[in-house]
Amino acid sequence: MTRHFLSLMDLTADELHKLVYRAIELKREFKAGVPCVAMKGKTLALIFDKSSTRTRVSFEVAASQLGGNSLFLSPSESQLGRGEPLEDTAKVLSGMVDVVVIRTGGHEKIETFASHSSIPVINGLTDLFHPCQILADIQTYVEHRGEIRGKRVAWIGDGNNVCHSWMNAARQLGFDLQLAIPPGYEPDKALLESCQSQASLSASPVEAVEGADLVVTDVWASMGQESERTKRLKAFEGYQVDPMLMSHASENALFMHCLPAYRGFEVSAEVIDGPQSVVWDEAHNRLHAQKALLEYLLN
Ligand code: CP
Ligand code: NVA
Repeated sequence: MTRHFLSLMDLTADELHKLVYRAIELKREFKAGVPCVAMKGKTLALIFDKSSTRTRVSFEVAASQLGGNSLFLSPSESQLGRGEPLEDTAKVLSGMVDVVVIRTGGHEKIETFASHSSIPVINGLTDLFHPCQILADIQTYVEHRGEIRGKRVAWIGDGNNVCHSWMNAARQLGFDLQLAIPPGYEPDKALLESCQSQASLSASPVEAVEGADLVVTDVWASMGQESERTKRLKAFEGYQVDPMLMSHASENALFMHCLPAYRGFEVSAEVIDGPQSVVWDEAHNRLHAQKALLEYLLN
């Protein structure tokens, strides 16, 4: 059966754990000049109908470093933008390429594509989840601090796609996730219920961050929510991750942000450009984590 990676729940906890350690190993080997050709003769297709810097670049470079090829399809340049059904596109690509990364809005679109695809489909971000990001984030935490199991993570801001994937990570990998989210912007209710043993809503950002080993945030208005920006800026007042908020976290707490970031809004420049921030490692690890994922799904 074809394995897809549409959410972190598509892999077992054990598989996720192994993937993170394989990413660390692949990173070390690549730096030492040890080649890995897990994609030799294979092609990765990227279908993106939202903007991207990190996800696109890291997947294209991953394919190249693994000895394979990649091709980028935007809706405006393919027949998808002219109404060709996802089902038909999935069947056509299944006979020509070996793996597909999709970035889109509605999560049901990637599910539809995957259900008609005989090759692995990877979620490169939907409105519901961003699982590849969290693979890199966990890798980054492990590299800096060791195992994340049993640790305390604070999510400050919007109950969005990245937040949902952190919630799945909490239940898969066994850490405590405290969420500080303004009323009206909470994560998906059913998902929160299914993660309740590991993730819960805090009364305030300070309460969520108290004693945290890791503090994470993301933009207040995600792609597709541009028209809500003014309303959201008001609703998220008091949710900025700044030095005052970080002072409530554990002394050696790390700060993460999936990027792109807006300094002065969800995070202050002092924090994102300060000593606790690991955002550049986090961004660079997208490459290594996704190389491990491609290798796993293709073999
Ligand atoms: N973090 C992330 O997915 O970045 P891009 O939108 O640039 O791909
Ligand atoms: N929540 C953000 C993440 C961007 C990588 C968005 O969906 O736009």
